[in-house]
Amino acid sequence: MELKIFSGTSNPSLAESAANSLGLPLSKLKLQRFPDGEINVKIEENVRGKDIYLIQSTSHPIGDNLLELLLIIDAACRVGAERITVIIPYLGYARQDRRVTGIEPIGAHLIASMLRATAISRIIAVDIHNPALEGFFRQPLDNISAVPLLAEMASKSKAGIVVSPDLGAVKLAERFAAFMSLPVAIVHKSRITGTEVKVHTVAGKVQNKKPLIVDDMISTAGTVEAAAKALLTAGCLPEISIAATHGLLVGPASERLKRLPLKHLFLTNTISIQPEIDLPIEIVDLGPLLAEVIRRLQNQESIIDMLVHL
Ligand code: R5P
Repeated sequence: MELKIFSGTSNPSLAESAANSLGLPLSKLKLQRFPDGEINVKIEENVRGKDIYLIQSTSHPIGDNLLELLLIIDAACRVGAERITVIIPYLGYARQDRRVTGIEPIGAHLIASMLRATAISRIIAVDIHNPALEGFFRQPLDNISAVPLLAEMASKSKAGIVVSPDLGAVKLAERFAAFMSLPVAIVHKSRITGTEVKVHTVAGKVQNKKPLIVDDMISTAGTVEAAAKALLTAGCLPEISIAATHGLLVGPASERLKRLPLKHLFLTNTISIQPEIDLPIEIVDLGPLLAEVIRRLQNQESIIDMLVHL
């Protein structure tokens, strides 16, 4: 079946990179706003009977990007696409996977319910915050790992230890450590507010070592900042590297990271990074990885080796 790749507006350069890797152009889509702010979508080429791949991160502005995704799916379905696969490199609301205080919604479940109501047949995401979220979705969800590519790039940091900045990232740190043949240290953190965290202890031999702190995402950078400070107090060398799949870098993130003795910040392009940010950022382009996923799905080949395994 002929394949077409569409991009929403969240991150066209990543979609472009994936399409280029497949030797295809991005298919034509017109996205405009009505005067009252409503999003208007027009699929400007024939997709009847075609296999559609739609690439859109539900990153900031998350409400708009999510709605855009849903509207494009609806349009593609109504104009006769045979099969629609959505590639959501960064899946927003994934952190809202349970009721913490008992008085809030389960945002991730709601997002899954919205996608469930559409005609998509498969969802591809990258390093979802909580892989167990797969169970919220009716459609099959493949959680692709960016860790092999990030670990390869992070090897230039010459780090001596991989550090999990909280208990939730321990498995992730172990995966990096396995690729890099390094030991693991763990920071015990608790969250006070959405932007503030507190560190209790550091477990592991970090003294005189260059640390590589790993996380699935950096949002306000409170987590990695607290971890870095705890590591410095525990005697690690003041040459810190950080690797994370999703660089949200919102609010005080830049200022917090600038205050650290930061040598490398390795991120992927699941979220487009503002070029003016003055940090030692190195980006892993996931376009070729997503292209390989698409190629294999088209050829009915296995993608098992590309998934996050816990
Ligand atoms: C938490 O469980 C996540 O894995 C990240 O550590 C956290 O969401 C990062 O947020 P921030 O950068 O605002 O501390």
